[in-house]
Amino acid sequence: MISKNQMEFHKYVKDLSTSDTVMQMDNYMQHGDITTLEHVIAVSYTSYILAKRWNADVRTAVRGAMLHDLYLYDWHIKTAERTPLTHTFNHPKTSVKNAKIYFKPTQKELKMVRAHMWPLTLFHMPSSKEAWILTIADKYCAWNESFGIYDNSDFRKKIKAYLAFVKKQRAMQNLANR
Ligand SMILES: [Fe+2]
Ligand SMILES: [Fe+2]
Repeated sequence: MISKNQMEFHKYVKDLSTSDTVMQMDNYMQHGDITTLEHVIAVSYTSYILAKRWNADVRTAVRGAMLHDLYLYDWHIKTAERTPLTHTFNHPKTSVKNAKIYFKPTQKELKMVRAHMWPLTLFHMPSSKEAWILTIADKYCAWNESFGIYDNSDFRKKIKAYLAFVKKQRAMQNLANR
C-alpha cells in the first residue's frame, strides 16, 4: 500500500513513472543494489516533500526530478565514447536529449535536468527554486545511497512500495490492453 502523499505524488508523475522509457531505468544500477529507477523515484519523492515545504511548483519539481537521470545506459561500463568520469559531466545533457525524445517536458524542467549536477556543470547553474530543490535532493539521496544510510531505511521501504505500485499499475494496463 502507498500513502496518501504518495498517491498525490503519483498524480503528478504517473504518465512518466508508468512509461516504458522510465521503466528502462530499472535495468541499470546507480549505487550498490539501487537501480537508476529507484534512485530517480527517491529523488523525485524527496523533491515532492521539499517543494511542498518551500512553496515551490510541486508538479515541475517532481517531473523534472523524474527525468533528471534519463541517460539510459549503465554508467559503470566503459565504451569508446564514455568513461565513468565523462559520464559524471555529460549525463545531464544526455538526459535532456532523451527527455525531449520521449516526453514533452517544459523548458523549466529541461533546465532543471541540465543543471542538476551543479557545481560540476559550471555553466549550467540552477535557475529556479525547483532546480535548486533537484540539485539538493539528488545530492542528498546520492550521499545516503553511497554511504549505506538509505539501505535499510523506512524511506527506502516507502520508495520500494511506490515502485511495486507502479509495476502493478503497468501490469493492469497491459491486461486491459490485451
Ligand atoms: Fe545525475
Ligand atoms: Fe541522480
